[in-house]
Amino acid sequence: MTKYIIKGGKPLNGEIEISGAKNAAVAIIPAALLATGSCRIENIPQISDVTMLLNILKELGGDIRTIDRHTMEINCDKITSCRADSDNMRRIRASYYLIGAMLGRFGRAEVAMPGGCNFGGVRPIDQHIKGFTAMGANVEVRNGMVIASTENGQLHGANIYLDVVSVGATINLMLAAALAKGRTIIENAAREPHIVDLANFLNSMGADIRGAGTNVIKISGVSSLAGGTYSIIPDQIEAGTYLAAVAGAGGEVLIKNVIPKHLNCITVKLEEMGADVEELDDAVLIRREKPIRAANIKTLPYPGFPTDMQPQTTAVLTMAKGTSVVTEGVWDNRYKYVDEFLKMGARIQVDGRLAVIEGVSGLTGAKLKACDLRAGAAMVIAGLMASGTTEIECVHYIERGYEDIIGKLRAVGADIVSITSPDEPEDEVREAV
Ligand code: EPZ
Repeated sequence: MTKYIIKGGKPLNGEIEISGAKNAAVAIIPAALLATGSCRIENIPQISDVTMLLNILKELGGDIRTIDRHTMEINCDKITSCRADSDNMRRIRASYYLIGAMLGRFGRAEVAMPGGCNFGGVRPIDQHIKGFTAMGANVEVRNGMVIASTENGQLHGANIYLDVVSVGATINLMLAAALAKGRTIIENAAREPHIVDLANFLNSMGADIRGAGTNVIKISGVSSLAGGTYSIIPDQIEAGTYLAAVAGAGGEVLIKNVIPKHLNCITVKLEEMGADVEELDDAVLIRREKPIRAANIKTLPYPGFPTDMQPQTTAVLTMAKGTSVVTEGVWDNRYKYVDEFLKMGARIQVDGRLAVIEGVSGLTGAKLKACDLRAGAAMVIAGLMASGTTEIECVHYIERGYEDIIGKLRAVGADIVSITSPDEPEDEVREAV
């Protein structure tokens, strides 16, 4: 079992370099299945979700070469199986991108459903299935597997209107449509930066995708895609998490290797909460000296305030002057972590999608258990803000999405260490992010 031990109450000062975007990497890696030849992918974050996804491709017969810490060469030419049902598949949410990629390449896919999840109750995939079906696939869910097939081995283009703005459905349908016969139009598409990054990656291999970043994406199917070299964008949410950490703990930190435009939806709120933010070319400087102010936040699909920043921002608001209201506009229930904050003296009441946070003058260290990736990151922030010692268990959730969080925080003066005791077993990873 690995734990993080944080001695809080110290401001953060210095520089943090942001890694490649997790949610772009987990879409781009399966997309390599659509290419003939090798894809050299740079700026891949070193996180456990990526490792699991690369292992899945290896199990299927993919050839993966490590060029350096953040660069891989992926060649899927030898993959012939369209069945993916290993244990790794059930551990990460993004494994379902293999449905779109396999349907695109083989016209058939048999893919294990991703496992349970730790927020939002059921995470449906009806919009993915609706889109594949419109493109000519017959899709069934049987014995925990999604089985999708086409009559003549190829999907055809279709007009698809998504009933909810879904990142996963938009990505899966783009993957399926890239090699389909004819034109696919996805309306009410998600607009997150990782959607644009996937479109740029596929276009760099020869795909014809227009409109990514708007809510109408047009994909004209091409007959083949060739490998190439591509560099993944910086992680908006990792950057947002460190910005929130500085807003919470105080200090001055230069967050490097970011696309400042992607962070606007976050920095505007942090400024409202009392931080000063300066935008540079590919960096953002954040300073927080004044007391934290209360703010109301509603999470929405991009360019709204990201749901994946909701727990971290709630952590900061626990010590704001005044009362804040947070509304979760994407998931049905993403407040499981709140009980852990109560152990630190926070005052929060949750009612469905609303959390009312009455700011307190200080948090006190406590023993906490991470329950998902962003909740875990929020607990780290709360630990940095608190007086005394905070111990966080189940940190494997955090390591699914944050590369070297300990090293990056220590470099800006945080007193945080990771301790592994070999005798205690790690809680089994069940949730999929
Ligand atoms: C992606 O999940 C991200 N994961 C999540 O980030 C993020 O919270 C979420 O998008 C929203 O931004 C990855 O990119 C791997 P959705 P995804 O489909 O694609 C409903 C993190 O912390 N919906 O956009 O699974 C759904 O229930 C992770 O990094 C349907 O109703 O989310 C939800 O309410 C956690 N039917 C809303 O849409 C569907 O078929 C948005 O879900 C699909 C989704």
